[in-house]
Amino acid sequence: MRKPVIAGNWKMHMTCAQTRDWMGTFLPLIAETPDDRHLVIAPPFTAISTLADVGAGSRVEISSQNVHWEGHGAYTGEISPAMLQEHGVRYAIVGHSEPRKYFSESDEQINHRARSAQAHDLIPIVCVGESDEQRSRGEAERVIRRQVEQGLEGLDPQRLVVAYEPIWAIGTGKTCESAEANRICGLIRSWVGSPDLIIQYGGSVKPANIDELMGMSDIDGVLVGGASLDPEGFARIANYKKG
Ligand code: PGA
Repeated sequence: MRKPVIAGNWKMHMTCAQTRDWMGTFLPLIAETPDDRHLVIAPPFTAISTLADVGAGSRVEISSQNVHWEGHGAYTGEISPAMLQEHGVRYAIVGHSEPRKYFSESDEQINHRARSAQAHDLIPIVCVGESDEQRSRGEAERVIRRQVEQGLEGLDPQRLVVAYEPIWAIGTGKTCESAEANRICGLIRSWVGSPDLIIQYGGSVKPANIDELMGMSDIDGVLVGGASLDPEGFARIANYKKG
């Protein structure tokens, strides 16, 4: 049984004060949410301990937005697994298209980060996905397959989440058709060769399309950017009913 993971990625949004307000609205709205899904928030580093405090005793799990492969050292701007674990962080997003684009992160670096996460009992959420140009040139599957093969090398698929996030769908309001997202998620599962692998879809997920996406056979959750900043909207996503 693959238990879906519904995750909100706050990116570079939300102060500690905003995090408290957000949780104050969100927690009552998930009081009745069925137990058959994980609910995860990835705040900026500075809000992790606030989220851990206000979420203590709730079912909200915490993800970081990054993790380094070394335990400590001269790596300005980076964060180590132990620093995250100290706050009860359980997941770590790696390979998101934004650091791939702005900081030229390679599949090799992403693989190092993901291995480091697993070595320290964190579950990596490894993002993969093609650009608009790659899709229009008919290269989507080849690009994603390379990201999967290189990014996931040596990882234990039982302690892993993969997020299929077509870049053209991120923050654009243009969601990938659910049937196509489902097809790519199914391909990823077959390439990895693990029927239990959790695979999310991400890219303009919102209250209006969550039920349909979650009704797809190979989509085991979502990674939500913009729509996770609104606690009421994200609660609606958390409370999806398969469409
Ligand atoms: P979006 O972002 O939901 O705002 O499209 C998704 C993501 O970047 O994970």
